Amino acid sequence: MTDGISIDVDPEAGRVLVRQGGRAVAEVVSDGALRLTFAEGVPATVQEAVRRHVRHLRETIRSAFWELRSHAVNQATRAFLATLEEPVPGRLNIGCGRDLRPGWTNIDFNPRAESHVRDGVTYLNWDLRFGIPLGDGSADFLHSSHFLEHLRFEEGLHLLRECRRVLKPEGTLRFALPDFKATFRAYVEDDRQLLDYAIREHRLLDHMPPFARTYADFISRSVYENYEHKYVWDMENVTACLRNAGFADIRQTDYDPAVDIPDMLRRRFSFYLTAT
Ligand SMILES: C[S@@+](CC[C@H](N)C(=O)[O-])C[C@H]1O[C@@H](n2cnc3c(N)ncnc32)[C@H](O)[C@@H]1O
Repeated sequence: MTDGISIDVDPEAGRVLVRQGGRAVAEVVSDGALRLTFAEGVPATVQEAVRRHVRHLRETIRSAFWELRSHAVNQATRAFLATLEEPVPGRLNIGCGRDLRPGWTNIDFNPRAESHVRDGVTYLNWDLRFGIPLGDGSADFLHSSHFLEHLRFEEGLHLLRECRRVLKPEGTLRFALPDFKATFRAYVEDDRQLLDYAIREHRLLDHMPPFARTYADFISRSVYENYEHKYVWDMENVTACLRNAGFADIRQTDYDPAVDIPDMLRRRFSFYLTAT
């Protein structure tokens, strides 16, 4: 409650209600954008006050919508899975993004997408903060590229335990993760060759204004990934967490063309590991 204005998130109805003095004055509907719809007769002064407060609470409201969407998407995917006559493929691609692999079960969260099986591609729209929607020991192989760092530490650890749970005892986990150590080293050692290569060839700073394309801007882009990254992993901390999650044999490996994404940006700025 701020100055008589309260914001109620109603997960059942899937909406956010803005109240003033106990009376609903605005409903915020969004699939990302914020839109205020005021009831008739709400005075301009009140509308302005609501707008001001909602602006301040923008991030909170966005997060609230994200949670609502995630809840609805996960429910829909559980229902979708219940309709399938065959089990989904036992090779999992977690946090797949656009890397939709035929013959695999590809999982990613997109508030606007739907789970489907089409042209040999199985896609599950699912918020992986809430585990993996598959049974114990149902997967032979689990691949994930540049995804774990998108979770908070606790969510990441939970996901690693989920990976262990869904993998068969002899199943293998394969991760590609951003090589932050190499990126930091290049920065500290002023390795202009590598930094210029990344900035020039992969155009990572093209979205930034021309005066904000320095090496520190590049580091920020790599580490925060436009504010989407939540945690930094290296071989040491990911190994400790994989052990904690129940994996016994964890090894750093080279790029493997049979399973890893061939994109040069990925190859140059990733480290790879397998765990069983
Ligand atoms: C950097 S992309 C990696 C995509 C692909 N694996 C690759 O290496 O090119 C990170 C992916 O993680 C997904 N992601 C982030 N948070 C997620 C979550 N909570 N649940 C499921 N997917 C998520 C994003 O939608 C995005 O597709």
